[in-house]
Amino acid sequence: MSMTADRVETLRAADHPLFNDQKLKLGLFSFNTSNAMMATSAPTSYELSWTHTKSIAQAADAMGMEVLVPVARWRGFGGDIDFAGESYETYTWAAAIAEATENIVVCSTSHVPTVSPVAAAKQAVTIDHIANGRFGLNVVMGWFRPEMEMFGGEQREHDIRYQFGDEWLSIVKRLWTEDEPFDVKGEYFNLKDVQGKPKPIQKPYPVLINAGSSAAGLDFSAKHVDINFIGMGSFEMGAEAVKAVRSKAAEYGRDISTMTYASIVCRDTEAEAKRDYQRLVDGIDWKSIDYLTKVFGLEGQSYGDAEQVRQLRTQFALGWGGMTFVGTPEQVAEQFLKTSEAGLDGIVVGFLDYLPELGHFNENIMPLLKEAGLRH
Ligand SMILES: Cc1cc2nc3c(=O)[nH]c(=O)nc-3n(C[C@H](O)[C@H](O)[C@H](O)COP(=O)(O)O)c2cc1C
Repeated sequence: MSMTADRVETLRAADHPLFNDQKLKLGLFSFNTSNAMMATSAPTSYELSWTHTKSIAQAADAMGMEVLVPVARWRGFGGDIDFAGESYETYTWAAAIAEATENIVVCSTSHVPTVSPVAAAKQAVTIDHIANGRFGLNVVMGWFRPEMEMFGGEQREHDIRYQFGDEWLSIVKRLWTEDEPFDVKGEYFNLKDVQGKPKPIQKPYPVLINAGSSAAGLDFSAKHVDINFIGMGSFEMGAEAVKAVRSKAAEYGRDISTMTYASIVCRDTEAEAKRDYQRLVDGIDWKSIDYLTKVFGLEGQSYGDAEQVRQLRTQFALGWGGMTFVGTPEQVAEQFLKTSEAGLDGIVVGFLDYLPELGHFNENIMPLLKEAGLRH
């Protein structure tokens, strides 16, 4: 049995939500920041407060969703609304959300240059114990230069960031699995007599996620993680990305899962859905999105050149470059089906107004996903 098969078997044996038998795993994305997934001034009851973020997490848990994924953010994107300007730090957020929920996997999203691997490994173990084995770590390298510059030093060149991440995560994995203390003399870390106890509840370690899609990012995901998070600008793009992830993972003798994300505007009638989608578009804070896409286009490699990034501006404004599913429950359920048909194993979603829209989702879309065989 390959190392990966072993690993997946171990996670399955532990009845891990992210490896359960639901055909399309479901989760929520990006509700630990102001404005969540949408850089718009359209009115919403969504706010960044502890009681609100906790209520959203508990609603998703009660609906039987599999995973909660926060965004790692240290500053906003300016403009009129300072998009994502307020955010909760994701290890501390996950620790408390873990205590407030029962079954759902709770993730942290960790920029590797902002935290020592020794500290990160222990923070993760602590949350995995609080969650009784429901912690997940989304490992990101940090593409937003002004954010990384807050931590001192210069932003590393794109592919070097993944080399740094490789060393960082290798140390974290050793801390999670090795009983004997060890020294590290690497390119980036020089550590003495390193040790970490207790070990995680999940064996051998918590579920790992990464969203890399450049050559270096894919390689990192293929080598290290259990789930690659795919930015899906269209279903065709999603299907291609799934193939790329799977073939890269196969080079390492591994078989990893894929998930994506989308924002949702679902109303009882198509006219209402289109009207409310237009309200979101009318309220877009283009100043913050101009800035965000400029930095992303310059710093990330996944979306091609700045011109291609510009075409994706609305998708960036309303859902981090992913798709926005707009329509009636039937129409939106159809888009979930297409997501699954593109080969994705799961999807995390966001809304303008999470709490009421989640209730609507549960009542109106969930039964259709069951009818379509995506859920039971
Ligand atoms: C679902 C998803 C979540 C992400 N979350 C974050 C995040 O919280 N913070 C961050 O700096 N980057 C985040 N990213 C950006 C990725 O880490 C990565 O930089 C991006 O997908 C570009 O890929 P590349 O690094 O291979 O060029 C996210 C990307 C995706 C698709």
